[in-house]
Amino acid sequence: VQDTARPGDLAGKRVVVTAGGTREPLDPVRFLGNRSSGKQGAAIAAAAAARGASVTLIAANLETRTPAGCGVVPVSTTAELRAAVLDAAEGADLVVMAAAVADFRPADVSEGKIKKDDSGSGLTLELVRNPDILAELGQRPHAGTTLVGFAAETEPDDERLLELGRDKRRRKGADFLVVNRVGWNDGFAADENRIVVVGPDDAVVDRAHGDKLSVAHRILDAVLADRR
Ligand code: CTP
Ligand code: CA
Repeated sequence: VQDTARPGDLAGKRVVVTAGGTREPLDPVRFLGNRSSGKQGAAIAAAAAARGASVTLIAANLETRTPAGCGVVPVSTTAELRAAVLDAAEGADLVVMAAAVADFRPADVSEGKIKKDDSGSGLTLELVRNPDILAELGQRPHAGTTLVGFAAETEPDDERLLELGRDKRRRKGADFLVVNRVGWNDGFAADENRIVVVGPDDAVVDRAHGDKLSVAHRILDAVLADRR
């Protein structure tokens, strides 16, 4: 992927992007997952590579092709994504947490396939909280590393959507938070996206919509403009 409008402005920079959605196994054949396709995250990795960065894409169950020119670390569970990103983020210039990380995982993973019995009764799953990886990155010393989070929200009201994004940025200790609305029909597998970028002082630094690669470039523009 080429973008001659911003040639090489990330040359010499190390960028880490997480993309996709984590899956939490229930048993050897089943998992709890989410609908993230990984397209927006993969587009950010592609855009950063096109701009000259050395890119590590931590790819959780992508439903899209991994872009050329990136180092790819395939992961599936939240624990795997956490280990990969904590390692890769060390000394990185930019970390973009675009992955949809499962908030919960089954308390127990069954060794064998979970079977129905003849009683006709339902099944109750016990879930436990997963660690918040972005908050962990935000809390540990990260001078020189810009942290960008995402917020996928179903909130229909624009002002309240923005407030959720601002709260989330502060709560996580991220420098930037990219807010996008998701729903039954919006967001995930789509090739287009509509986003608002909240900056370090809670100001809206950009709004963009279009194909996921142009949106990716706009996110990088917003982050770079603030650092230059
Ligand atoms: N995230 C993370 N670790 C988690 C959950 C989320 O690192 N366990 C990251 C996501 O990659 C994203 C950001 O945090 O960059 C926000 O994710 P989101 O699901 O929107 O926020 P949550 O804090 O999980 O809040 P909730 O789902 O309850 O709205
Ligand atoms: Ca969540």
